[in-house]
Formats: sequence, structure tokens, C-alpha cells
Amino acid sequence: MFKYRLLVHSASQVVTVRNDAKIIAARGQEMRHVDIVEGTEQCGVSVLIDSNGKIAFVGLDTDVAFEFPDVHKEVERTIDARGKSIVPGLVDAHTHPVWVGDRVHEFAMKLAGATYMEVHAAGGGIHYTVEKTRNASEEELYCSLVERLYSMLSTGTTCVECKSGYGLDVDTEIKMLSVIEKARKEVPISISCTYCGAHAVPKGKTSQEATDDVIKHQIPKIRELMSKEELHVDNIDVFCEKGVFDVNQSRRILQAGKDAGMNLNFHGDELSPLDGAKMGAELGALAISHLEEISDSGIDAMTKAGSVGVVLPTTAYILRLTPPPVRKMIESGMAVALGSDFNPNAYCMSMPMVMHLACVIFRMSMPEALVAATLNSAAALGRSGDLGTLSVGKCGDMVIINAPRWEHLVYQFGCHNETISSVIRNGDVVHDAGQCCG
Ligand code: NIG
Ligand code: FE
Repeated sequence: MFKYRLLVHSASQVVTVRNDAKIIAARGQEMRHVDIVEGTEQCGVSVLIDSNGKIAFVGLDTDVAFEFPDVHKEVERTIDARGKSIVPGLVDAHTHPVWVGDRVHEFAMKLAGATYMEVHAAGGGIHYTVEKTRNASEEELYCSLVERLYSMLSTGTTCVECKSGYGLDVDTEIKMLSVIEKARKEVPISISCTYCGAHAVPKGKTSQEATDDVIKHQIPKIRELMSKEELHVDNIDVFCEKGVFDVNQSRRILQAGKDAGMNLNFHGDELSPLDGAKMGAELGALAISHLEEISDSGIDAMTKAGSVGVVLPTTAYILRLTPPPVRKMIESGMAVALGSDFNPNAYCMSMPMVMHLACVIFRMSMPEALVAATLNSAAALGRSGDLGTLSVGKCGDMVIINAPRWEHLVYQFGCHNETISSVIRNGDVVHDAGQCCG
């Protein structure tokens, strides 16, 4: 039995994001900087992971040699990261990865001028995916989810939020949550599981009937499975939107989820300014996603409540939405996080691409984007106590980049296959460039 699982040494720089493990989110101006351990011409930087997969040390190679003189005899694996840089494993704070049936035909319709809500109201969009997902077997859904999770790992994501929400009835929602539960045990990626039974109003029901179904049938059944430890659901989500669930219905659904022990983490103020952010802040939401249409008072309320704002550049880009007021959100002191929003409408799971778009379209700086894709996205999932930074005691999750400066991960748009050398989770190599470790 080795005392240490992994030593990565000789790196040009290691971006810890925050050296101090106690910082649970970076708010407002604090997002401007990242902590970096810089190597010199003579001496590189090391990260040492212990046998439990936790970070034991980050510092100059000479300091490791001094503090851990026998490390080379006691470590299971070493990686020479000469000429490379290291960042924490990326955390994707918002995805819809459990479904079958793509919507490439709808992409064409949207390019021809149809809006997202026009496609949805005509029975396509989420409804199309619901039909396919209801008819799919658990095995089929599981296989496509596993494939997607390995692709995410290969782009540097070591923790991902996964939503249900293409069932909209108790059986299919539980089928989706069970698939997520199984993947959590089998795939080397951390998963935060979100119940999203109120993702759309199912055909044949009014929004009021759907709200009642979620509260009276779906949540109690899921709660029962949670108490038997058959399911572990971390968060509840609702699509709070004009023509879907209004603010009052969303409030009732979120409150029922909260009563069942779930964190509030939902879609708000995306296409219309309903002031869902204000309602979420009042309920103590952990995070609210999208926020393209957030009001000034919504920003204020979320900042005061400490709710994390999860922004999703790929969706704003694909749907050509007005970008959310990210600069205002940061100026007000909010913790802003990033997610890919991977779903059949927005087919992108690469967090390096999401970070690039956040910089160009949302006018974030590269350090802000990295903070938003690590520490703050972990905070949006309530996981920043053990993920999101390379601080001693946290999980040994990191991305080794094929460049001496970390910014190449963002700068080289769409090049994650070239820029990412290895992805490590809990000190284990889970992706190595050119070869999948699945
Ligand atoms: O975050 N806005 C609602 N949900 C997803 C889209 C899901 C879908 O279209 O299938 C989103 O963009
Ligand atoms: Fe979404």
C-alpha cells in the first residue's frame, strides 16, 4: 500500500484558484484573480495526492523534496509535467445529459428563424425529447449517458450536475434519476443529481395540474426512494418561464423540493423577465441558472441572499439571446458560475469552449471564467468544500494542459483535444490524451 497515489512534478505553473481550502465561493471582484504557484527556470511545481485521493501538497519541486524526502519510494505513480500547466478539474454546473433522440432538425428550423418557444409551443423542443425518452429503455439511456460522461471527462470536467426532466411523469423521471444514480457509482466523475420533473408542462395537462402532479405524486415518490437510499437527489429544478411554470407555481414546486431535503437550483429569467431570481433569492436558492432577463432588483436580491448565478453561454449563443448582464452581476458582488447546459437544444459539453464564449460574449476575463468554472460552479452545487480548487485537503481533481500557461485552455477555441494532456480525478488518471481510460 502506497502512502501517496500520485505525484505530478516539474509543471511550469499550477493554478490552485485558491490556496485556502476554506474559501467556499469567490464573489464579485474576488473573481478577478486566481492563485498560481509559478515555477522558475530551475524549478518546476508539484502536486502530491495522498492514498485517499486528497491533495497533500502543492508547491515547488524542491519544497516537496524537502517536506517529503521519501516521496519517490512512497508514491504509486509519477507524472512529469515539464512544459505543462495545471488547473483544478472543471465543474460543469448545469447539464441535461439523460435523453435519446437528437434535435438536429430543430437546429435547422431555428437557423431559419423559428424561436425556441415557437418550436416548444408547436409540440417540439422538450416535448420531442420527452416522447423519445419515455420510450427508451433504462439500458439505452444509461449507455448514452455513460458515453457523454466520458466525453465530458475528456474535455476536463471532473464534476457535473445532471438533471432529469425529459420524463414529466413519475415513472420516467424515476427511470432517469436511476440512470444517473447508476452512473454515479460506475463512472469516475463526480455527479450532482437534480430532479427536474417541472421542466415543461406535459401534453394533456395544464400548468396547474402539472404543478400538483409534481408536488403530490412525483416528489413524495422520489422522497420515499431517497429515504431508502435507492436514489440520492441533491437539487430540485423548475423551468420558471412564461408559458411554462409561472413564479407562484415555481415557488410551490421549489418549496416542496426544499421540504424533501433538496437544494434549490433552477432555470430562471431566461427568455422573459418574470423576476424568478427574486423569488429564488427569497426561498434561499443555492443557485439560479440562465438569468439573461434578470432585473436589477433580482441581481440585488440574489447577491444579498448569496445565491450563485449560473450563466450558460452556449445557450445564449445558439439561441442568439441577449447575454445576461454578467458585468453587472459581478459588480454587485454576486458569485457567478458557468455551466455547459448540454441538452438536445444546445449540444456542447466542452467547458473550455464555454469559458471561451463566456469571455468573448459575456465579457468575462479569463481568470473570472476559470473561477466560474471551478470554485464557483462547485459552490453552485454545494460542493466547494471538497472540489473546485487545488487546496490541501480537497479532492485531487485536475487538468494537465499541454502549454506552459493555463490560459491556452481558453484561448485555443475548440482545441481541448490538443490542449488537454491528462485529466485526473482523486489522484487517478481518468483521461489521457489520445486514449480513453474508460
Ligand atoms: O436550459 N430552458 C430549459 N431547459 C433547457 C433546454 C432543454 C431542451 O430544450 O431540451 C435549457 O436551455
Ligand atoms: Fe438547462
